Parts: sequence; structure tokens; C-alpha cells
Amino acid sequence: MIAVVTGSNRGLGWHVAHQLAGQEYHVVACARRHEDAMAVAASIRQQGGEASPFALDVTHPEQIQELAAWLTELFGGVEVLVNNAGVLLDQGLPLSAISLSQWQRTLDTNLTGAMLMCQMILPLMRASHYGRIVNVSSGYGSLAEMGEHQAAYRVSKAGLNALTRVLAAETADDGIKVNAVCPGWARTDMGGPQASREPADSARWITWAATLDDHGPSGAFLRDGQPIEF
Ligand SMILES: NC(=O)c1ccc[n+]([C@@H]2O[C@H](COP(=O)([O-])OP(=O)(O)OC[C@H]3O[C@@H](n4cnc5c(N)ncnc54)[C@H](OP(=O)(O)O)[C@@H]3O)[C@@H](O)[C@H]2O)c1
Repeated sequence: MIAVVTGSNRGLGWHVAHQLAGQEYHVVACARRHEDAMAVAASIRQQGGEASPFALDVTHPEQIQELAAWLTELFGGVEVLVNNAGVLLDQGLPLSAISLSQWQRTLDTNLTGAMLMCQMILPLMRASHYGRIVNVSSGYGSLAEMGEHQAAYRVSKAGLNALTRVLAAETADDGIKVNAVCPGWARTDMGGPQASREPADSARWITWAATLDDHGPSGAFLRDGQPIEF
């Protein structure tokens, strides 16, 4: 079983990659820098797991295409995709203070990158009539919880949630489950040192959604394994 994890070199992605490897997945450890991807794969192998590194910036569509071609050639299929890579560039900023480049980089990474990953990987899942896609979202993207500040990040995650619903509907008969997961506030570079959760604990719920059995939900927005309001 092959699991692709974007942004696996630190934070939640690092833990998800190691947790999936611990469940017998061959992890394709994606990171922007090749040496970072190599380090994740080496760490997984050191712990007895299987992993392959892949240099991937999700804002570069041609790299995503290369990944899909490489996966097809090497493995012929993919069972799990975790769209984890993300940026939070406008933390605490009102809309008036957000630059166009912050806005565009946020949308390109958090939303368009994930959309392209889904587009390119889906045929590899459809072929085997099995797939689990986890879009790592955020409570900041919940319309039910919507508030002020970090508009770029909020809109990117609300968009990711919408993408999750569309894709879940489109894959309902294909043995593929697509869910959005809010990991809670985790102590990573993004979450900061004051965050309330251990990253490994937050990652566990992402890993859980990536390994759902046939009875598990699809098209849901999940936190701690429970559906929350979009
Ligand atoms: N931590 C939290 O409290 C929290 C809460 C809600 C949601 N989330 C979500 O959880 C996910 C992981 O967050 P985190 O806390 O682990 O953040 P993090 O520690 O800042 O790690 C972010 C990861 O994303 C990668 N990344 C950023 N831009 C990329 C790009 N263009 N292409 C490929 N990889 C890219 C980074 O790679 P580099 O090392 O190369 O920069 C890094 O591996 C994100 O989607 C985030 O929005 C986090």
C-alpha cells in the first residue's frame, strides 16, 4: 500500500509520514527540498519502515505531474494521499494588511496545490477502486466558526473544504473516501509553542482518516475523529 504525504519534512506531515509507515504503508515522503525528503525517508527506514523520497513543491504543477508519472511507473497505484503541505502567511492580519503575494501564495499552496494533487493522483486510485484522500484543513476554514483576520488562510481552507465535498461526491462509487481534517491547534512551526496539542496527537487523527475502513465517512469535516460543522 502506497501513501503520499506532502510537506512531510516537519510538523504534522513528519508525524503522519512516520505513523503511516508504522502501519505498513510504503510512504512517499514529499518535501520541497530533495535533502529534506531524503531525511524523512531515511528516518522512516531507520525505524524499520518503507519510504521513498520525492522533491515536490505543490505550487509547481509540473512537479506534481512528474510525481504522478513516477508513481505510475514504480508502483502502478496509490492508496493514500495526504494533502498536508500548507502555509499561514497572514496570521493576525486584517484584510487591509494582506498583500496580493501573501494572498496568492496562500491560495496556490493550500488550495490549488491540493486540487492538483487530487487531479493527478485520482486516476491511480480509480484504477484499483480504492483510495483515501485527506485534506488537512483548519477550524479557520469553517464557515460556522468564521471570524476576523487571516482571510487568505481562512478562504484557502474553506475552499479546501468545498473541494473535499465536491470530490467526495464525484468519487462516491469508486471506493474512494475524501475527507477534510482539522488537526486542532498543534505545537509546530505554524501552530507555535503556545499551541495546546502535541503534533503527534493531532497527526494521529489525520492518519486515522487516511486509513478509514469501508464504513468510514466521506465528504466530512472531521476533528478528533468526529464530524464538525463546515
Ligand atoms: N499547527 C496547527 O496548529 C494547525 C492547525 C490547523 C491546520 N493546520 C494545517 O496542518 C498542515 C500542516 O501544518 P503544520 O502545523 O505541520 O505546519 P508547518 O510545521 O509550518 O509545516 C508546513 C509544511 O508544509 C510544507 N510546505 C509549505 N509550502 C509548501 C509547498 N509550496 N510545497 C510543498 N510543501 C510545502 C513545509 O515545507 P518547508 O519545510 O519546505 O517549508 C512544511 O513541511 C497545514 O496544512 C496547516 O494549515 C495546522
